Amino acid sequence: MSNQIVIAGPSSQGLAVNLANYLDVQVYATENKVFPDGECYLRIDIENDTVLEDADVLIVQTTGANAAGDQNQRIMELIMMISAAKRAKASKIRVINPYFAYSRQDKAFRPGECLFATEVLKWIERAGATEFYTIDIHAETIFDAVDIPTFNLDPMEILAQIVKDRNVINPIVICPDKGAYERSRAFARYLGEDIPVVQFNKTRDVKTGEITMEGDIDVNGREVIIADDIIATGGTMARALGIAKKAGAKSIYAVGTHPLLIKNATYKLLKAGTTEIIGSDTIDSIAMQASMAEVIGKAIKKN
Ligand code: R5P
Repeated sequence: MSNQIVIAGPSSQGLAVNLANYLDVQVYATENKVFPDGECYLRIDIENDTVLEDADVLIVQTTGANAAGDQNQRIMELIMMISAAKRAKASKIRVINPYFAYSRQDKAFRPGECLFATEVLKWIERAGATEFYTIDIHAETIFDAVDIPTFNLDPMEILAQIVKDRNVINPIVICPDKGAYERSRAFARYLGEDIPVVQFNKTRDVKTGEITMEGDIDVNGREVIIADDIIATGGTMARALGIAKKAGAKSIYAVGTHPLLIKNATYKLLKAGTTEIIGSDTIDSIAMQASMAEVIGKAIKKN
């Protein structure tokens, strides 16, 4: 069996170290910067390339934006890490991309658009990735674009456990749109037996991005959980929250696997009456309450 090594990409340092600890393997940091002209630079912080030769290299890098870098920079860095590992003759290059940026551009919604999500994944494959792991991807159909093995890992059991720990009584799960139904069902199953799931209907204007949402629900005095994959601007959650609050919810938990929390999303959600925002460490944010290290580690051990 080849030597397993974790590389901590600049955007997923905590998760990478947790994963290395779980697998009990060596972890290496990276050195990165942006040159004055805007070009990215990255090197894996190793003394010489033989460290990676014949190794089973696990590259951990989320491509969500944060204050230290946008998604485009994160993708460049990821490609640089894959390419460096390939140059150093790693035997396996397993990419762990917990939040896959551009995943919402999986379809052409208007004439003249491209399917950019698949282009990003193809680029990762072409650079030299031999396996691809992500968490709760927006649409698994994106995987059809590549030949390498792809794995979409489920965060819902761990996220549900956090809500369970709050001792919620008589809970009900709301799914904000059709696309989130399976995810919400899984969440409800992990939360307990016979927990109802109610689906709202969301429409988004493809030109303006404006959201409208409809939902008919009686949640008077109940504890409500809204489960979604991404909390970006918070618009979707805030709409669902508004309906639940108006319908008399006692408390409302906003659960999102990937808490991007762009701009004033946190303010928007708390102002709308959220009891707590619960997310995972696929993105470093104030809502990061659950680590995906074990879920990823188990999948790596299995494969
Ligand atoms: C959309 O289909 C996704 O599942 C999320 O609901 C959406 O990306 C959330 O975005 P925002 O927080 O900006 O409404």
